Amino acid sequence: MGRLNPTLRQLRVFVSVVESQGFTRAAEALHLSQPAVSIQVKQLEATAGMPLFDQIGKKIFLTEAGEVLYDCARNLFAELEDAEERINALKGVKAGRLRIAVATTAGYFATRMLAEFARLYPEIVIRLDVTNRASLLAQLDANSQDMVIMGEPPPGRDLLATAFMENPLVVVAAADHPWAGRKRIPLSELQAQRFVVREPGSGTRAAVQRFLDAEGVGVQFAMEMSSNEAIKQAVQAGLGLGICSLHTLELELETRRLVVLDVHGFPVMRYWYLVQRAGKRLSPVGALFRDFVLNSERRVDAGD
Ligand code: PGA
Repeated sequence: MGRLNPTLRQLRVFVSVVESQGFTRAAEALHLSQPAVSIQVKQLEATAGMPLFDQIGKKIFLTEAGEVLYDCARNLFAELEDAEERINALKGVKAGRLRIAVATTAGYFATRMLAEFARLYPEIVIRLDVTNRASLLAQLDANSQDMVIMGEPPPGRDLLATAFMENPLVVVAAADHPWAGRKRIPLSELQAQRFVVREPGSGTRAAVQRFLDAEGVGVQFAMEMSSNEAIKQAVQAGLGLGICSLHTLELELETRRLVVLDVHGFPVMRYWYLVQRAGKRLSPVGALFRDFVLNSERRVDAGD
């Protein structure tokens, strides 16, 4: 059997075909002709000794061998980017790239934190992705970020996670809700209420569900929305109560468009974690950011 011996060019073309979902679009993105793209992929298939794509109708799908090679190529290119940054640091180049992804709920304070970081290090280019917990875990698996800010990651993954800030979850209502101002509302009374909640991939949603299950309280999730902003609008419009991170509510509480209800058992305390892959060697810029986050006054020593 021959050895797998691809060129970097073949791998780059292959990754582009996968990510742009087609030979034609990859050719456009790479400024190559379509036959040139096909030849690179054919050569890669020859060295792999197996087809990398299945064509069904007009669509192409990765075969199992294709998946293996795609995973490997993505890791390889991420490692090469890291190496480039480390070499630049050795050359004394101050500038670099920071690739960071944060949970939608963390986006509110993370953008402020990044602004502070950018003021200290103006030559660092920051690429920020704001997405939900499920997608953050997938990005950690794919090694496509330097670091991620999210709720406590699930155990059993090879991740290094450090808590650095509290994340209180609270029950919110429209300012004219009859419970506004009421003291110590029993948890059991939530059962009669309608709730507007986040989508199933959300960490906030999972934490709320865990808390309610542990307390034996079943509430009615009347509406599901994939953004904190949409939930706040819906609660303001009187569509139900919401459970959100306090970090998403600053403006609405200040302008008294929403109120936090005093429900027994709340706030449910969670923590924000800075998360990276366990084996990952951080780029100099990544290490700088890690120190910046963990040494700021927000640092807490706590578990979820
Ligand atoms: P999310 O964030 O609800 O926006 O997914 C919280 C988390 O990651 O735990």
